[in-house]
Amino acid sequence: MVTTEMPDTQAVREAVHQQYESFPYPARNPEDELDRLLQPTMCELPRVNAMLWGGCRVWDSAFRVMDAGCGTGDATVFMAEQLRDTGARVTALDLSAASLDITRRRLEKRGLDEVVDLIQAPIEEAPSLGLGQFDFISTAGVLHHLPSPDVGLRALRDLLKPDGGIAVMVYAQYGREPVYLMQSLLRMVAPYEFGEERRLRILKRALQALPPENRGIRGLLDTPLFRSEIARSDAGAYDLLLHSQDRAYTVPQIYEWLDGANLHLLDWGVPRVYRPQTYWPGVDVTHLPAKDMAAAAELMHGRMAKHHFFAVSTEVSLAPQPASDDLHAVPVWTAWRFDAALGQALAQPGNQLKFDLGEDRGIVLNGDALNRRLLGAVDGRRSVGAILDEVSLAVTTQKPQQILRRWVDLCEAMREIAALVLYAPAA
Ligand SMILES: C[S@@+](CC[C@H](N)C(=O)[O-])C[C@H]1O[C@@H](n2cnc3c(N)ncnc32)[C@H](O)[C@@H]1O
Repeated sequence: MVTTEMPDTQAVREAVHQQYESFPYPARNPEDELDRLLQPTMCELPRVNAMLWGGCRVWDSAFRVMDAGCGTGDATVFMAEQLRDTGARVTALDLSAASLDITRRRLEKRGLDEVVDLIQAPIEEAPSLGLGQFDFISTAGVLHHLPSPDVGLRALRDLLKPDGGIAVMVYAQYGREPVYLMQSLLRMVAPYEFGEERRLRILKRALQALPPENRGIRGLLDTPLFRSEIARSDAGAYDLLLHSQDRAYTVPQIYEWLDGANLHLLDWGVPRVYRPQTYWPGVDVTHLPAKDMAAAAELMHGRMAKHHFFAVSTEVSLAPQPASDDLHAVPVWTAWRFDAALGQALAQPGNQLKFDLGEDRGIVLNGDALNRRLLGAVDGRRSVGAILDEVSLAVTTQKPQQILRRWVDLCEAMREIAALVLYAPAA
């Protein structure tokens, strides 16, 4: 595990707090809020509903979600938008008043400020604030900055309702190697005591002055994620390369970490990213348990920079997700307003159907008439059986068994990129 810890917990938290007061992250301008809705994958609530409650959970005044370490509010805004007019509430918690202020202004732009409670507090102390318990907690890019991620994770677990779940993003070790090389150098040439402005100046000079073949520089510039962080804003550059507290995890370390907090991993953010077959078609890994398959996929990828995953208490036993050929299950698109994007794609002629739902979620499908019918029939209400009946009546050139096989392939492919979920029968 890569770790850059300061000796004293309070001093670490204060340094982190100070950074996010000066550089709220990510850099967002509330004036641009109505130009687009940012949609963090891990906060797509139909997916959360399918995984945790079989699709049975209704959004009402009893439903409560938290964005822990909300920063400037991407997840808060998206969850509040999905819960608009339902009576459900969102709690956005962060150390940084400046970040919370940007979140508040973004919500105001959308007329969503009444849906959200903004709280300035450390995650570690949240269980003692009398906030009650939550159905779902999202915490993205936060726990790896805590003096003790273990304490933070346990605090969030204590805030969950017994059947609640948590979505986590933490840094991944192998892809961040160039970041840690540069961080080590910058800690020497631009120590914390130099102050933010001077450190940033030195950082920018280092990026220009160092030889391009330097492994750190090359790794940063070769990786679009890092390149854009550095180019887009000082907040991004500082967060990436001058952070005073930052650690990264491998897949086995994530399992160990969750174990220590009595949580277990429910699924990865984009399941196909953690399948060895994605990188090495035909590889035989049938001898490996699920954990090791994900670890092997991480090594095959070789440059993962973040891990996204869902977890629940080890005390909860969840029903398995319906199989793709479960005729009574109901397929539901997870992405916000995906029906509209699908409708547009289906209206275009061509022998391919391309969808891009964000990072690692692009897909190209055979665009023949059968796939178009099957995709077009998913409306979030009809069961798999009803869809197959309807399509069988319309496509008489194929036998029902062939149509079923095609559905299963299509459904699996869309589930692997977290585009589709199946609500349990009679949900
Ligand atoms: C990298 S930003 C991530 C922001 C947001 N979650 C996102 O994904 O865009 C980390 C955020 O965590 C907050 N933070 C760091 N340590 C915290 C703590 N102990 N308690 C609460 N918030 C914390 C910071 O103030 C900062 O806004």
